[in-house]
Amino acid sequence: MEGFSGLNDIGAVVEADRAHVWHHLSQHKQYETIDPRVIVEGKGMRVWDAKGREHLDAVSGGVWTVNVGYGRESIANAVRDQLIKMNYFAGAAGSIPGSVFAKRLIEKMPGLSRVYYSNSGSEANEKVYKMVRQISHRHHGGKKWKILYRERDYHGTTIAALASGGQKQRNAQYGPFPDGFVEVPHCLEYRAQWDVENYGMRAADAIEEVILHEGADTIGCLVLEPVTAGGGVIVPPAGYWERVQEICRKYDILLHIDEVVCGVGRTGVWFGYQHYGVKPDFVTMAKGVASGYAAISCTVTTEAVFDLFKDDASDPMSYFRDISTFGGCTAGPAAALENMRIIEDEGLLANTLAMGDRLVGNLSALMDKHKVIGEVRGKGLFCGAELVADRGTREPADEKKVQAVVADCMAQGVIIGATNRSVPGFNNTLCLSPALIATADDIDQITGAIDAALGRVFG
Ligand SMILES: Cc1ncc(COP(=O)(O)O)c(C=O)c1O
Repeated sequence: MEGFSGLNDIGAVVEADRAHVWHHLSQHKQYETIDPRVIVEGKGMRVWDAKGREHLDAVSGGVWTVNVGYGRESIANAVRDQLIKMNYFAGAAGSIPGSVFAKRLIEKMPGLSRVYYSNSGSEANEKVYKMVRQISHRHHGGKKWKILYRERDYHGTTIAALASGGQKQRNAQYGPFPDGFVEVPHCLEYRAQWDVENYGMRAADAIEEVILHEGADTIGCLVLEPVTAGGGVIVPPAGYWERVQEICRKYDILLHIDEVVCGVGRTGVWFGYQHYGVKPDFVTMAKGVASGYAAISCTVTTEAVFDLFKDDASDPMSYFRDISTFGGCTAGPAAALENMRIIEDEGLLANTLAMGDRLVGNLSALMDKHKVIGEVRGKGLFCGAELVADRGTREPADEKKVQAVVADCMAQGVIIGATNRSVPGFNNTLCLSPALIATADDIDQITGAIDAALGRVFG
């Protein structure tokens, strides 16, 4: 390990981190008095920090990513073997793992047929926005260029991805944003915007109202998370998705489903949209595709969309003139293939459904004891508990107290998450997304820690 002498001196690693690393999503003033957290090792569901402390990770690497758990030698070996054979060539050419993974992936996604590789969720979504804009130019005479997105959803961190994001605190101070992104209302019934019986239908009808207001001939695409993640773990109400599909068909609007969080098993099926029988035109995915063992994202679409980009080979501007340099890295699909094998061979989809039920069940049971839990929502191993100051009025719990619950769990050796700098006034939902390998004991340890933390913070 020459050249990495800090490895044997963890104190030096922490100091180098403090001096030179700019952490994501972090206010650094605190690190003048406390040590930045450095995670040094992981195995299964557990990680160890620089002080040697063990933690049960209930958020799969912080941001719902490490779906098959830490320390998977078979993925490391698959990546190593592939890198020695052929590490990189620009994506204008194919690769062995790229083509094999695309075939396996498409087998799980009936109706879709083409995979475009890049290396982050934001980028995968931007590919769709570029495709929609190019389809508008080439096939709609410049019409159908706007992209609808939903309040509370998030689609990434780049400027155009933020423009399609419905979380005001994430976007604040980063504008101005590009034109043509239009918001539709969220569908969280707990925070109902209409007093009706069939809330799912009503929330979807609100999308139609926006379409009619903007003019259907201006709208090219609607982007939605199947289950909203950072905006509050929102499981759409019954009837919502069916109506969304109907509206998209009625107005000839392409449906883009952002599976960056839900994709590849998180909700107990391969893709979140498959719970609802929806037929999307675009599906994007990233985090769980290779469980963080390599960077990879995919923009998947139909043959009908693909055909729009090869209809006129004599026109030098007719094809998708886009590249992602690192979309040509072979480590991503090599890791993704092995990741998919593990999910299949270890029966992790079934485990996710069973353990997801246990997680929601345990948290729901805590509602008797802790009045601060207003609602528990979830799909598979993707779960949120919204905390409220008053169950009657549903006034959100104080954000500082929500963060105190997260900190208390951390002190108990359990890493949980909470919505953070997302929707102003509503950063009050605890977020849980343990790896798909979680056992009943792991789930009970997670909810046990939350029980104790809620007791200490809220009394
Ligand atoms: C639903 C969703 N889409 C897109 C992204 C962006 O992914 P990335 O951070 O890989 O760019 C995220 C990240 O959290 C996400 O939650």
